[in-house]
Amino acid sequence: MIHAVYPGSFDPPHNGHLDVIRRGLRVCDRLTVAVLDNPLKSSYLFTLAERVALLEAATADLTVEVETFSGLLVEYVRHKEAQVILKSLRGALDFEYEAQMAGLNRTLHPPAETLLMLAAPEWSVVSSTRVRELASLGADVSRFVPEASLKALHERFR
Ligand code: PNS
Repeated sequence: MIHAVYPGSFDPPHNGHLDVIRRGLRVCDRLTVAVLDNPLKSSYLFTLAERVALLEAATADLTVEVETFSGLLVEYVRHKEAQVILKSLRGALDFEYEAQMAGLNRTLHPPAETLLMLAAPEWSVVSSTRVRELASLGADVSRFVPEASLKALHERFR
């Protein structure tokens, strides 16, 4: 029984996230999407509750759990007794950052294996940061985000 945790800020969830969730479900038995609650970061566009609600709406047809976590990811993973930390790599730029995190997380909690999933080519240029920027400038981001995120972005930048 492989339980994977897919952590992130999801501010907001985009189609690249959903692709990783769908593909993650093919390689694990149980998937928990873990939304970071970082009280020190005040620059989120969406609150923790909003990010959870957006993920729940976007994954309504999938068998995943959406939870929040704060503090160290590995402590949450230990608490959940999960074996895998699922992360996504969009390209070489993400690699150094993710490799460092994977190494540190393995040092802190050796039983958990980080699985780095390559983003599908169509989503390799999509990030929450870019989606927020594009939406704030009035660009159409409907091809990059699920319906719920699109609606929330429209409301935020109306
Ligand atoms: O979507 P993001 O913002 O790229 O996700 C980053 C996240 C949440 C995976 C990362 O910031 C994280 O794991 N934060 C928890 C704190 C922690 O464990 N830090 C040490 C990592 S070596």
